[in-house]
Amino acid sequence: MGKLEGRVAIITGGAGGIGYATAQRFIAEGAAVVIADLRADTAAIDALDGQAVFVKTDVSDMTDVERLAAEVMAQFGKIDILVNNAGITRDKSLKKMTEADFDAVISVNLKGVFNCTKVVAPFMVEAGYGRIMNTASIVGVYGNFGQTNYAAAKAGVIGMTKTWMRELGRKGITVNAVAPGFIETDMIKTIPDEVIQGMIKSTPVQRAGKPEDIANAFLFLASEEASFVNGVVLHVDGGLAY
Ligand code: NAI
Repeated sequence: MGKLEGRVAIITGGAGGIGYATAQRFIAEGAAVVIADLRADTAAIDALDGQAVFVKTDVSDMTDVERLAAEVMAQFGKIDILVNNAGITRDKSLKKMTEADFDAVISVNLKGVFNCTKVVAPFMVEAGYGRIMNTASIVGVYGNFGQTNYAAAKAGVIGMTKTWMRELGRKGITVNAVAPGFIETDMIKTIPDEVIQGMIKSTPVQRAGKPEDIANAFLFLASEEASFVNGVVLHVDGGLAY
C-alpha cells in the first residue's frame, strides 16, 4: 500500500518543475492529485495517466483559489494535503528593482500561500486532519544578491509556517516548510552558467538538486511517519552554505 493511499492533495504550481515531480511522487504513493497552476502543460499532465486533475488557478487571486477549493470538494469531498509550491522570480538588485517587480513576487510567493491556506485550512479543520507544506527557499533564510522581493516572500512563508503550526496543530493539522537549495528547473534557466557552476562548487555534495529531491521531502512531510513533525523548515540543499 502506498504511503498516501486515499489522500487528496492539491499541489499549486504543479504543472512544472518541483510541483510536477511532487505530483508524480504522490500519485505513485496512491494519492489523488489536483494540479493548480496558471498554465496547463497538457502533455505533462496527460503523462500522469489520468491520475491528476488540472484546475487552472492563479494563486494570487483569492476568488480563483475559492473556486479551486470548491471544485476539489465537489469532486473529491475532502482536501488532505496542500503543497503551496507556485512561485516566480523577478530578480534585480535593489537599485534596479521596481515596485512592480516587488509586488509581483510578493503577490504569488507570499500572498498566494496565504490565499490557498486561508481557503483550504477550514476544510481540514472540519475533517480534523491536514498536512500543509510550504515551499520556502534557503534564500528566505540567508538572503541573496538580486532577490530582495523573493527573499522577503520566502522569509514571510517561513513566518507563516511557524504561525500556522501553532494555530492549526491542535486541529490535527501539521504545517511545515521545505527550503530547497539550488534545483534544476525552469526557474534557474535565466541564471548565467558561471553562477550555476559557482553554486555547485559551494554545495558540499557537489551537484545541483533535482526536483525529485524536493518531492521526496514533501512525501516524507505528507506521510504518517511525519505526524509528529510540525513547524520545521527542512533544508534540502546538499549543504549549500552562503
Ligand atoms: P517552475 O518555474 O519550474 O515552476 C513553478 C510553477 O508555478 C510553474 O508551473 C508556474 O506556471 C506556476 N505558477 C507561477 N505563478 C503562478 C500563479 N500565480 N498561480 C499558480 N501557479 C503559478 O519553478 P520551480 O523551480 O519548480 O519552483 C517551485 C517552487 O520552488 C517555487 O515556490 C520556488 O520559489 C521554489 N524554489 C525553487 C528553487 C530552485 O532552485 N528551482 C530554489 C528554492 C525554492
